[in-house]
Amino acid sequence: MVARGGHLRYYRCRFIEGLESVQTLGQLDMLRTAVAQLTQDGSRLALVPTMGALHEGHIALVREAARHADHVAVSIFVNPTQFGPNEDLNAYPRQMAADSAMLEAEGVALLWAPSVQVMYPQGFASSIAVEGVSAGFCGAARPGHFDGVATVVCKLFHQVLPHVALFGEKDWQQLAVIRAMARDLDLTRPHMTDIVGMPTVRESDGLAMSSRNRYLSAEQRMAAVALPNGMQNAIAQIEAGTSPARALGNLREALKAAGFDRVDYAALADADTLEPLDELETRPARLLVAARIGGTRLIDNMPVNNPAK
Ligand code: PAJ
Repeated sequence: MVARGGHLRYYRCRFIEGLESVQTLGQLDMLRTAVAQLTQDGSRLALVPTMGALHEGHIALVREAARHADHVAVSIFVNPTQFGPNEDLNAYPRQMAADSAMLEAEGVALLWAPSVQVMYPQGFASSIAVEGVSAGFCGAARPGHFDGVATVVCKLFHQVLPHVALFGEKDWQQLAVIRAMARDLDLTRPHMTDIVGMPTVRESDGLAMSSRNRYLSAEQRMAAVALPNGMQNAIAQIEAGTSPARALGNLREALKAAGFDRVDYAALADADTLEPLDELETRPARLLVAARIGGTRLIDNMPVNNPAK
């Protein structure tokens, strides 16, 4: 089922009429041929961009994608430009065989898994920077991260030309950056791609699913539940009238007490602009947290309601 060739690895998860004899697709133009064949009868195509090491959170996006389109394409690309020099690019889990089997079971039509050379050929020199929403939080903690995300997602949109693309709210700031880029660069429908956000899928104890959870030891995994629990406590406090500063202070303490080594940020922000908030306002608010346990950085976010509204 898996065909590899040249710089481009192309996985055909499901029989595509007319492409059954194609075993080796060497370049981007071959992806375009497959996309053209899938969409020539007016069929809609959805794209779920991922970095692989798939879990139920990714699969929820794939299933939702099938409700928005006739065919679903998934990309798997561990994007080097969104990792900082001291981050986990080399350690990031890669399990292409298991991932493609999962996607095949979901009836995915196309798995686009380009090599780094195909995505960033010799001489590649462009970058997309989205100001504003990318400035704080993960953007501040991981310089250049969102430029890497925006650039690769823009390329994926142009490569696959999906009618709709789905992203998880688990990466709330990433979703805001992608929405801003799509709006600013006219990547949205009718001529290009609609963007759909999906709620965070969690483990039974509340920890948000993440490919990085597999870095956690058994002990760290047990301690990690302090993140969603502490966030829920902080939200309950804020909604009951405790000042956000105090509730966030309590959250930081709870994370430290549970064994987290560092809190990159724990903040209340405007859910859309991501401007930090000292107090609840009438606009929707979000609690955003990034914290490290051992060498693993976990992020999470949850809505905060204003009971006065
Ligand atoms: P990755 O971390 O693999 O995530 C791929 C998509 O799955 C993202 O839209 C992410 O928000 C979503 N996702 C991850 N965990 C989730 C969960 N528990 N519940 C719901 N959705 C979840 O995010 C990236 O890859 C990359 O930055 C990418 C957008 C592919 C660009 O390289």
